[in-house]
Amino acid sequence: MATLGVNIDHVATVRQARRTVEPDPVWAAALAELAGADVITVHLREDRRHIQDRDVRVLKQTVQVKLNLEMAAEQSITQFALEILPQQATLVPEKRQEVTTEGGLDVVGNLDRVRRCVDQLHAAGILVSLFIDPAEEQIEATKSLGCAAVELHTGRYADAMSPAAQLQELEQLLRAGRFARLAGLTLHFGHGLTYRNVQPIAAIPDACELNIGHSIVARAIMVGFSQAVREMRDLIVAGSRQGNH
Ligand code: PXP
Repeated sequence: MATLGVNIDHVATVRQARRTVEPDPVWAAALAELAGADVITVHLREDRRHIQDRDVRVLKQTVQVKLNLEMAAEQSITQFALEILPQQATLVPEKRQEVTTEGGLDVVGNLDRVRRCVDQLHAAGILVSLFIDPAEEQIEATKSLGCAAVELHTGRYADAMSPAAQLQELEQLLRAGRFARLAGLTLHFGHGLTYRNVQPIAAIPDACELNIGHSIVARAIMVGFSQAVREMRDLIVAGSRQGNH
């Protein structure tokens, strides 16, 4: 059965909208763990738009399951990872302008840069996964760098506009998954997975880890909203009564 990696970046996105202290992704990580998350995933972006250095430092102290740090294959962030020592690092492409991670890491086209980063992480005992499109040449390149795992990008599957197009993308993920497994790589999947589209991905043979963020945070807002409003309303009612004395 695939394990669940809960990506808590967008809890930090809400906090950063006000540059305040709530909601704290560290609290969200604890709740995710209590609810059964197998992995806590955070992406420390170069522009620090959501997760901050402090979050990763505290999470390393508090998370009891696997901590998976998503990061660009850049030297400054690699040095940070070497200081923090998460159990797993997932290397992702990163562009400043993008809304979220668009497309997989081009390992083939950036072999030397990625190797430098992977070698440093491996030397520190960190398990390295590369986030790539489901393409054989990218899987082969990942294998050639000695990585233990590969995270296949499910974005095209998630964005497919028709059942036929979605099936085509699923078949590509199945083929690439088989190819990666035969190469001895552990199989992770992520990006754009939702409550509606997750099950066929969870059913892929040997799917080991699914990393899911936006949809879980979006659902948490919706399932928690009514209670949050009720609690605020109750406080206002209680406060009004005090004012009437
Ligand atoms: N996996 C990787 C490598 C990612 O970069 C992201 C997005 O940060 C995710 C999984 C989670 O994607 P989503 O937020 O769409 O669930």
